[in-house]
Amino acid sequence: MQSLTLNTAAKINLSLDVVGKRADGYHLLSTVMQSVSLADQVYLELDKQGSGLILLCDTPGIPLDEQNTACRAARLFLDATGIDAGVRIYIEKKIPAAAGLAGGSSDAAAVLFGLSELCDHPLDAPVLFGLAERIGADVPFCLLGGTALCEGIGEILTPLPAFDGLSVLLVKPDFGLSTPWVFSQLDLARLGSRPDQPALIDAMRQRDLEAMRQATANVLESVSIKAHPVLNEIRGRLTQLGAGLAMMSGSGPTVFGLFADSETCDQAMAILRAEWPDSLSLYRTVTQASGLTVR
Ligand code: C5P
Repeated sequence: MQSLTLNTAAKINLSLDVVGKRADGYHLLSTVMQSVSLADQVYLELDKQGSGLILLCDTPGIPLDEQNTACRAARLFLDATGIDAGVRIYIEKKIPAAAGLAGGSSDAAAVLFGLSELCDHPLDAPVLFGLAERIGADVPFCLLGGTALCEGIGEILTPLPAFDGLSVLLVKPDFGLSTPWVFSQLDLARLGSRPDQPALIDAMRQRDLEAMRQATANVLESVSIKAHPVLNEIRGRLTQLGAGLAMMSGSGPTVFGLFADSETCDQAMAILRAEWPDSLSLYRTVTQASGLTVR
């Protein structure tokens, strides 16, 4: 029996543009993704004498069958390698589900990476990334981690210079949003404000939050904010409380604030906690240069 424990990071979208639609209904994106320190812990056991796939999770309400991306990742890995073994996965969830933070995708990436480690890397990196893409659009980025421009449906990754060490406050209202629903409501002919990716990437290089704010946008905000106007309220409040940039992550509903200094971020968290004691979950995080780490 061999085992491995991994930390697998949540992501935020520092920009999100939709540039087209594939025949299968998936949208073509151009999005800058960033790993943050909020992470799930994934414990993996591989029993080369055993068989079967078992998933356990500390959080109620998470599916424990092949609906779960972590299970799908293990099944795809075993099928692709032809390895006949027993796999046991235990997930301690810290990343909220259906929040726009790639919680499920990060667990899947951890399973692919961890099983690859435990089996002495039987697949080349492009094959492993191909499996990641089959599980979900955010999984390739979660496997790579750090900072990257993600295109295609999310599988064409261009690593960007590290943008680590910035304070981020994640604000999650007490409802979830379904990614397929948000994409289905998007009118490609009327996307509203769109990001200027080269200007954003340049501003990130200078760590200029004001220039980032001017260059960026998330086109999915129009859909999510229309359905839940409170998201706009949270975004505005984060800006009033000193965030250099405040925007929704992915398809939401989490809104993040990026702060130039950690004290302002801490103060904003305390104030929001007092103002919305029951309806918001707050996570104080920091941008980081990696997605997956072996503990
Ligand atoms: O790949 P993932 O499971 O994250 O996507 C969930 C759903 O979100 C897809 O089935 C699709 O409806 C929508 N989606 C999309 N375009 C993307 C990513 C997701 O339309 N690039």
